[in-house]
Formats: sequence, structure tokens, C-alpha cells
Amino acid sequence: YPAPMRRSIPELQHPPHPLVMVTAYDYPGGRHAEAAGVDLILVGDSLGNVVLGYDSTAPVTLGDMIHHARAVRRGAPDTFMVVDLPFGTYHTGVQDAMRNAVRVIQETGADAIKMEGASPEILSVVQTLTRNGVPVMGHVGLMPQTATAQGGLKVQGKDDGSARATLDGALGLEAAGAFAVVLEVIPARLARLISERLTIPTIGIGAGGGCDGQVLVTHDLLGVYEGEEKKIAKRYAEVGRVAREAIAAYAAEVRGGQFPTKDNSFVMKDDVLDKLY
Ligand code: KIV
Ligand code: NA
Repeated sequence: YPAPMRRSIPELQHPPHPLVMVTAYDYPGGRHAEAAGVDLILVGDSLGNVVLGYDSTAPVTLGDMIHHARAVRRGAPDTFMVVDLPFGTYHTGVQDAMRNAVRVIQETGADAIKMEGASPEILSVVQTLTRNGVPVMGHVGLMPQTATAQGGLKVQGKDDGSARATLDGALGLEAAGAFAVVLEVIPARLARLISERLTIPTIGIGAGGGCDGQVLVTHDLLGVYEGEEKKIAKRYAEVGRVAREAIAAYAAEVRGGQFPTKDNSFVMKDDVLDKLY
């Protein structure tokens, strides 16, 4: 693996190879991602789905994000860490957004924050944050925080209206000062076009091979949950099966008297024991 080294934003903007980003939500996740030598770690608000058991990202709070990001940072002190601002924490005005972003940076050691969308309101937030020294990663295409308003979790940018809106949104984020932008679940050719038009790097998920980088939810690539493989992800392991089999093996050994053995136990001197009788 490449030696861990916290990349600078200029390094991330001129990568010698496609950028690699994965999500992490806790200390072991941070340790594994850093040891594997990824370029960026995202503490995503997918936390809500894959770690907290919600059926959307909407219930995730700023406190949840800070709590988890602090743990990730303890496991990954030397990797560029981006933290999602969750739903509702950057929608009530530029000052609130700035205050919440600063809390994330100060309390977690994040290098940057990410937010979804490219409406005029969001662009003005991005501009204020970046002008005041908070690096911002943008996010367009499918935006899970507002997926209900987008007509559900489905491909965005397929018709010319929404393709144009996605391109304009990405361009707007670059102009507002974002240092990179996530493209989620859009057609590969649209993602390639956006990547060509932008000078800042694009990081795709379900957006084809034409982006400047890729991101996956770690629990998807690890196979933490069994069932059908998602189209946008690839499973590189079957961690869920391994975990379930290990716990079942332990349970069987306890019930069958094979665990613990002498090797797992401590001894004491007979004369000390005799005094207890
Ligand atoms: O929350 C998340 O994991 C994300 C990525 C899918 C980009 O936003
Ligand atoms: Na997210």
C-alpha cells in the first residue's frame, strides 16, 4: 500500500491517478481506510443508512456526524477527511451553515465539509464558506437528503432539462469555490462531459469511469449486508457472511463446551486456592 500521507488540496486537484475516496464512520473504518492508502475519507451521512439503521439520511444530526467523525479521525490521523453536513444544517441561512461547518472542522479535525445541491441558496453558502477558509466539496446528481423531492432514489440527469441543471450546478459549485464535486448516479456520458468542463476534480458514484475519482460506501464494497449487489457498487469481500459465521461458530463452541479452553484461562497457585476452602 502507498504510505499514508495527508494530501493537500492542490495535490488532490492534480492527481497522478484517479482519486480514491471511501466512506468511514468509526475508528476501525478510519484505520482500515488509512492503512489501505486511500486519497480521501468521507464521513458520509450514509451513516444514517449503513450504521444507524435509518431508512434515509434525513434523521442524521450534526451531533451524530461530529461523534462519528471524531472516531474516524482517531483512526485516520494522516488522511484527508471530508465530513458531510447533514440535512437541515446548512439550509437556514449562511450564518448557520458557517457556524455548523466551523463546528465540524474544529471538533473533528476534518479537512473539508461536503454539502448537497447547487441551488442559488446553496451556492451562496458555498461561496461564503470557501471565502472564509472552509474547503467545500460539492455534490450534485442524486442527492439522498432530498431524494423524496427528486422523485426517489433514481438516476438523475437523463432528460435534457435535468442534464443541463446537473451540468450548470457543477459549474456553479466550481465558480462558488468548491475544490471538488461528487457526481452521484447520473449517466456516464453526462459525468464525462461535466468532468471535461470542470477544472476541479469530479468524484463519481454510479457515474461511470469518466470522472476524476471514485467513491463507494465502504459497507457496500465490503459486503457488510448480504442480498443483491447494488448496480452502482462492487462487492470486494463478504464481510457480513464472515462476521455472521464467526459469531455463530463462537456461539456453538460456548454451547458445546469447546470455548474457553485452558489456553484462554488463567492459573493460580494451589496454596492460595487452598486458603479459600
Ligand atoms: O453519504 C455518502 O456516503 C455520500 C457518498 C455516497 C458520496 O454522500
Ligand atoms: Na452523503
